[in-house]
Amino acid sequence: MTASAISAPTVLVIDDEMGILDTIRILLKSEGFIPYTALGGKKGLEQIAALKPDLIITDVRMPDVTGLDILASVRAHDPEAVVILMTAQASLQSAIGAVNNGAFYYIQKPFKNEELVTIVRRAAEHRSLRRENRTLKADLKRRERSGRPIGASKPWLDALHVAESVAGTDSTVLLQGESGTGKEVVARYIHDLSARATKPFLSINCGALPESLLESELFGHVKGSFTGASRDKEGLFFAAGEGTFLLDEIGETTPATQVKLLRVLQQREVIPVGATEAKPVTARVIAATNRDLEDEIKRGNFRSDLYYRLNVISIVLPPLRTRPDDISLLSDAFLKRAGEVRGEAPKVLAPDALEAMQRYSWPGNVRELENALERAAILVKGDTIPLSALPERVVEPKSEPLVSDAVQANPTLDTIERAYILWVLENEGGNKPRTAEVLGIDPSTLYRKLSRYGLPT
Ligand SMILES: Nc1ncnc2c1ncn2[C@@H]1O[C@H](COP(=O)(O)OP(=O)(O)OP(=O)(O)O)[C@@H](O)[C@H]1O
Ligand SMILES: [Mg+2]
Repeated sequence: MTASAISAPTVLVIDDEMGILDTIRILLKSEGFIPYTALGGKKGLEQIAALKPDLIITDVRMPDVTGLDILASVRAHDPEAVVILMTAQASLQSAIGAVNNGAFYYIQKPFKNEELVTIVRRAAEHRSLRRENRTLKADLKRRERSGRPIGASKPWLDALHVAESVAGTDSTVLLQGESGTGKEVVARYIHDLSARATKPFLSINCGALPESLLESELFGHVKGSFTGASRDKEGLFFAAGEGTFLLDEIGETTPATQVKLLRVLQQREVIPVGATEAKPVTARVIAATNRDLEDEIKRGNFRSDLYYRLNVISIVLPPLRTRPDDISLLSDAFLKRAGEVRGEAPKVLAPDALEAMQRYSWPGNVRELENALERAAILVKGDTIPLSALPERVVEPKSEPLVSDAVQANPTLDTIERAYILWVLENEGGNKPRTAEVLGIDPSTLYRKLSRYGLPT
């Protein structure tokens, strides 16, 4: 921002009559403006370039460069500039044309001092509004940019584009992805891009509460509906109002809660625990889970009718190991933030540290990456983060199956298979379809083997 924007406005007066220039200069000065003068249009153009005044007052009729030439040139260089044209009766028509072309004002000669001052004041106000507007817009752009979840890889952008295209709708969205892939980040992003952005964004972790408490949080309850319900409580579905409500870890809900959720989504209303009357639900619902819900359905843990109701728009967030190209972008952002928090310049990764990070499988995804870098940024004193500052598992990824000594002493084929499956599963961050792929077997075969070895399926 130039100094003139916060101090008094600068005004350049252009005319081919010295007398007029002097009069206006004295007048504007006494009114608190900072006036400059230019004798003739040619001088005027030079002064505009040199001074970049907030306002320009110019005569229309001048022998060499006319006021309209000045207007055109100013517009081309600074579309926000405010120009006041001074005209004699004869050139009124052309001045009106100029106003239509975007000049701010014209004033007819001869004019009274107060008329000119009024117009200059209004022009100055206009100018500062335009400037404010531009600053606001720039702020908004910056916010928008900083709000876009980081990543430029194809799998990430594919997912983000779906999020962006559904943000403006009221559709229910189901966000699936391993732990730490950014489900909550994307849910917020959808909210921020939507028309609901100024309304609340609420979320609940369905896995963190026992069934009865979860239901009273979600739907609310009335006083006395159960022991401890000493007053009415508004549920989150209701509290979210016209905002967005994120049902996080929806895969952790019990079948009983699932029935109730289904009802809320179908009827768009909630009945608080112990109440008889339903309350309307206007919030947009987003659900998130790191479980494979189709798999949970097969195993009888998740209701398929609720699944289909939630799964109107499905977004699967890719694990970090499938988008190694994003590691450097994410690292830069996390290191920048870590620096800002501590009022230091951002640290940079040594090339071998970045390479190791790109090779590592990140079972905890972006969250694991974020934590590793925050820790490194604190531990490292210099401005470069060496490989040795990264967690050991990143530096030396396990290269062999983890088979205990006891197993090695007396290994049967089954023990080895079990250990091997476990090892691949861990390296794949618990992702079963990928584990099956790596093992070269069918997912259904993998499930059979897991249950045979007493491993969680
Ligand atoms: N694309 C991204 N850009 C910036 N930060 C991200 C991005 N993805 C994830 N993060 C950060 O990683 C962390 C984990 O993200 P988030 O909480 O959204 O993951 P999640 O998928 O909801 O995980 P969980 O299943 O464990 O709840 C957060 O601190 C978040 O700020
Ligand atoms: Mg989450």
